[in-house]
Formats: sequence, C-alpha cells, structure tokens
Amino acid sequence: MKTFIFPGSFDPFSLGHQDIAKRASNLCDKLVVAVMENRAKKSMFTVEERVEMAKICLSDIPNVEVISRESLLVDLYRELGASAVVRGLRSESDFRYEAEMNAANTLMFPKYQVIFLPCRADLAFTSSSIIKEVAYYGGDISRMCVPAVEDMVHRKLLQNQQENK
Ligand code: PNS
Repeated sequence: MKTFIFPGSFDPFSLGHQDIAKRASNLCDKLVVAVMENRAKKSMFTVEERVEMAKICLSDIPNVEVISRESLLVDLYRELGASAVVRGLRSESDFRYEAEMNAANTLMFPKYQVIFLPCRADLAFTSSSIIKEVAYYGGDISRMCVPAVEDMVHRKLLQNQQENK
C-alpha cells in the first residue's frame, strides 16, 4: 500500500493544487491531502474551511482523503507510514524553498522522500496569494479556482470588510 501525502496551507485551494492532487493520486494507492499550518503565512480561511474546499475540489478522486493536522510534516509522515510527500513546483523560487524544506525534513527523518511534480504550464503563475490579491481588487479569479472556492473567497472578503467597518 503506497501512501503519498500532499501537504499545504491551501489558503485557498486552487486549480493548481487540484491538478497536482489528481496527478499524484495516479502514482499511489492512497493520497492524503493534509491541510497544515505554514507559520510564515497568516491564513485567510480557517482550517475547517480549507478542508471543506479541498474536499469539494477532490470529490471525484476515489483514492484521496483530506485531513487537517497541526504538527510537523515528518510526524504525520511517520505516523501514516508514507512512501513520499508530493509538492508542486512552479518556478525556481519555489525550488529554493522546497529544497530547504526537504533538507530540514530529511535531517529530522532520514527516510523522508519528496516527489516534485511540475505545475501545469497555464497554472504556473497562479498561487493562493495571487487569488486573494486579485479577488481583493475585484479581478476575475474564475480561471484560478473552482466556482465553489471562488464563492467562498468572495464571501470571506465581504465578511472581512463588514468586520472591519
Ligand atoms: O502551501 P504551503 O504554505 O507552501 O505549505 C507549507 C507546509 C504547510 C507544507 C509547511 O509549512 C509544513 O510542512 N508545515 C508543517 C510544519 C512543519 O513540518 N514545518 C517544518 C517544515 S521545514
């Protein structure tokens, strides 16, 4: 039983994330999509909302399970007896960050294995941060995320606006 983990903050879950998860699910028996915390980023969505988004986006993939976890990634890896972590790569700057994360995770747990999947070319320049930025200024995010996520982003922006009044 080959289990891969696709971890991320997924704030929000994008078409790029969906594409990586779909392709990764074909390479393993089970793909665990883990909604985690990136302490360098302040999340717009709660963990529960991010799990909900991931579940919506991945509902047609039979061998995917979406979980949330507040711990080190290597602890989850060990606990699940995972064979690899999957991360999408968009650019050279992604690679730098990923190489650092891989080095730290391998130091903590030498059996840790990462697989990088290149992002689909047309999605290479979308990111969760860009989705939030474009939506904040009223731009069109319909080609960056599924309609349900688009709605959640707009609702969250409205809610934040009302709270800040
Ligand atoms: O989507 P992101 O923000 O690039 O995902 C980063 C994430 C959540 C995978 C990373 O921050 C992480 O693994 N967080 C869990 C805590 C951890 O293990 N940190 C040490 C990584 S060196």
